Amino acid sequence: MVARVNTVSFQGIDVRSIDVQVQISSGLPSFTIVGLPDKAVAESKERVRGALHALGLSLPAKHLTVNLAPADLSKEGSHFDLPIALGLLAAMDVIPKDSLENFLVLGELSLDASIRPVAGILPAAMHASSNDNRLICPEDCGGEAAWAGGLDILAPRDLLQLINHIKGTQVLSPPAAKLGNEQLRGGPDISEVKGQETAKRALEIAAAGGHNLLMIGPPGSGKSMLASCLPGILPPLAPREALEVSMIHSLAGTLPDGGLLKHRPFRDPHHSASLPALIGGGHRVKPGEISLAHRGVLFLDELPEFARATLESLRQPLETGEALVARVNHHVRFPARFQLIAAMNPCRCGHLGEEDLECTKAPRCGTDYQSKISGPLMDRIDLQTDVPAVKVADLNVSGGENSASVAARVAAARRIQSERFAKFAESGINMLNANADGKILEEIAVPDSGAKDLLNRAMENRKFSARAYYRVLRTARTVADLETAHSGVANPEISRTHMAEALSYRRVQLI
Ligand SMILES: Nc1ncnc2c1ncn2[C@@H]1O[C@H](COP(=O)(O)OP(=O)(O)OP(=O)(O)O)[C@@H](O)[C@H]1O
Ligand SMILES: [Mg+2]
Repeated sequence: MVARVNTVSFQGIDVRSIDVQVQISSGLPSFTIVGLPDKAVAESKERVRGALHALGLSLPAKHLTVNLAPADLSKEGSHFDLPIALGLLAAMDVIPKDSLENFLVLGELSLDASIRPVAGILPAAMHASSNDNRLICPEDCGGEAAWAGGLDILAPRDLLQLINHIKGTQVLSPPAAKLGNEQLRGGPDISEVKGQETAKRALEIAAAGGHNLLMIGPPGSGKSMLASCLPGILPPLAPREALEVSMIHSLAGTLPDGGLLKHRPFRDPHHSASLPALIGGGHRVKPGEISLAHRGVLFLDELPEFARATLESLRQPLETGEALVARVNHHVRFPARFQLIAAMNPCRCGHLGEEDLECTKAPRCGTDYQSKISGPLMDRIDLQTDVPAVKVADLNVSGGENSASVAARVAAARRIQSERFAKFAESGINMLNANADGKILEEIAVPDSGAKDLLNRAMENRKFSARAYYRVLRTARTVADLETAHSGVANPEISRTHMAEALSYRRVQLI
């Protein structure tokens, strides 16, 4: 007779049900796992054998076959250990065969029979919840699984505890939901940045509307510092967003302390990052930096230093909000609705355009350096601002507006947007001006006649692309929303001043 245990396999953010079938038949002693297992799954035999040995059990000297159905779907990861072990225990009649019905099982085994944490528990728990299943997961993942809500969870520390629970000699208590990053990632307060009023304003607009931003300036002018102020002015994730973002981090195994994320992710990969690290993929498909930055910020410091192919690969996700990773025989999708914040120097020496400081190769070195950023990528950046060297006079002035008051304005502007988008967006996901498209954009961003005139003229004189036209429109909508948040007076239409400010952040060309 065949013992059956349910588990899952992850295909990007999608979860597929897997049926683990275990059969013990007469024949020469052997232990085979079939159903396209990868190396981690194939090695699971040794861990299972070791864990059972630690409990004083040995595998029968018979023909053992484990089939992971459906057989044509490749299986990755170490979470198959526990379902395979439980299937074997059921087939060996150590536990009743029907005791595992309706359970979804995930967990990695150690040789001492303890159950180690695995990635992807939150999406698996959501899957179990939607299929009316119960869940067995490692103790360390219980706090994460509990977020699926209304789910019956067993989170044992080791295999013995679990067997005892199934046999009724010990009762495991259900785990409590755990909250993750209570503490905000500690960046500087925006009041610590001296001068740079234009850049601060651009940062506020970017935060309010979810726009992409590029800061260009000489070394030491505060670009990296400004970017690290951003987590302090962004509002926390809405509950539905927190669940969505945490699912991705759960798959990557980067959930802090196994709890749910509360604050928006801020990812700042080094410029040596490879294409799979940024977009996702690799030997075992994992979400890349752009997916880990979903509903948050991707900060690319020293933008031209990134490999050209890596930068170009951002083009599609920036438009679609999705990372598509091609595998040999299928595609894997991860959500990637991130906000790109980038910083760069104007040239290699960094002082292009500064009297006495620029090198002898200017302006050629600037053209060469800036041409590393392609036109299409630049076109996708709504706000492009200069961050000039700080003046001594500015450094000696103390204190500007602090992060808390900027954050309050940003939150108010985002509230205005979520009220406006309520009728279009999925409930619980706050849509932002930067993501409005097509018909929705035409409906929400209506310029008055002066503003329209200004935009049309800019379009003609500055040879804007159609994309740039719509991006300016979205930025202008955010500028108007920020004014409403500040003054309390509604701005249903975009005025000429809003449009002029939005246009001022689009540079004709870099130099
Ligand atoms: N506007 C500013 N106000 C206060 N301190 C500043 C300012 N700009 C720079 N600093 C100081 O200089 C340090 C370096 O700044 P930062 O790293 O942000 O420069 P950067 O513009 O990113 O330079 P680079 O182009 O070399 O990366 C900061 O940690 C801060 O102490
Ligand atoms: Mg820097």
